[in-house]
Amino acid sequence: MPERVRVKVNGRELEMPAEASVAAALMSAGVSGLRRSRTGEPRGPVCGMGVCMECRVRVDGRAHQRACQFSCREGMEIECR
Ligand code: FES
Repeated sequence: MPERVRVKVNGRELEMPAEASVAAALMSAGVSGLRRSRTGEPRGPVCGMGVCMECRVRVDGRAHQRACQFSCREGMEIECR
């Protein structure tokens, strides 16, 4: 397993430790609001353990992926609002 991987966050390329969570990659990119509530308020990670669902982002085109629950992979494309 490589020690570092390259991911894209909203089109911006970042190099991250391979074991870093997607949530960590987003924080490294300076992204704090990962999605919007139905009323338009920014939402971000709360629990960090897969329960609150507030960290949902689009990963490689798949919506509603919990950013705190999986690690970065080489070439991963992460999108959030
Ligand atoms: S931070 Fe709560 S599910 Fe990811």
